[in-house]
Amino acid sequence: MTNCHILGKNQPTMKTLIIYMSTHGCTKHVVEELAQALHGDATIHNLKAKKQPDLQSYERVIIGGSIHAGQIQRKIREYCEQNQEQLEDKQLGLFICCMHEGEQAFQQLENAFPEKLHQYAKTEAILGGEFNFEKMHFLEKLVVRKIAKVDQTVRKINHEAIQNFANKMDKTFSPFLMLI
Ligand SMILES: Cc1cc2nc3c(=O)[nH]c(=O)nc-3n(C[C@H](O)[C@H](O)[C@H](O)COP(=O)(O)O)c2cc1C
Repeated sequence: MTNCHILGKNQPTMKTLIIYMSTHGCTKHVVEELAQALHGDATIHNLKAKKQPDLQSYERVIIGGSIHAGQIQRKIREYCEQNQEQLEDKQLGLFICCMHEGEQAFQQLENAFPEKLHQYAKTEAILGGEFNFEKMHFLEKLVVRKIAKVDQTVRKINHEAIQNFANKMDKTFSPFLMLI
């Protein structure tokens, strides 16, 4: 787990947990940027780790992963299903990293998380992604060349969307920030 302490002047301390999975590292970068953009104390947890985080210690939880062949990582989906009750009590944010935009990206976001969590989420976001040819294995390169018609690394991380997502999470959390 990684801790980022970024406390603004006169802001109440907020404990945020960001849970993620990343296949080629893009979502990891996105999550680090998001943690920096949020007010308060953010802990980053990769679901690949054996030990599960203790949700009780956090008021705010953000969950995200990347889309491959239309699906978010299975472990993210399972984690959401298994911890649904506890997550419903949190200030919840959901996001995906992906290369589609518009309606297709929106559909992928819809499918990525259980229906109930969409209802409880304060904010959801599509944060862009990258086709990283240095990280892909042979078959993945083949698929990306054929389907996306791309044969070199393309970076489309949406930094503005990351900042907007952080702002919305901060607004929903803090009554002080609601006044801004
Ligand atoms: C084999 C492969 C399949 C992919 N399938 C999709 C897809 O179905 N929809 C989409 O929007 N993006 C797709 N992408 C793009 C990924 O979502 C993008 O590369 C993302 O940034 C990966 O994040 P990660 O490095 O954290 O895993 C695919 C990428 C690869 C390599």
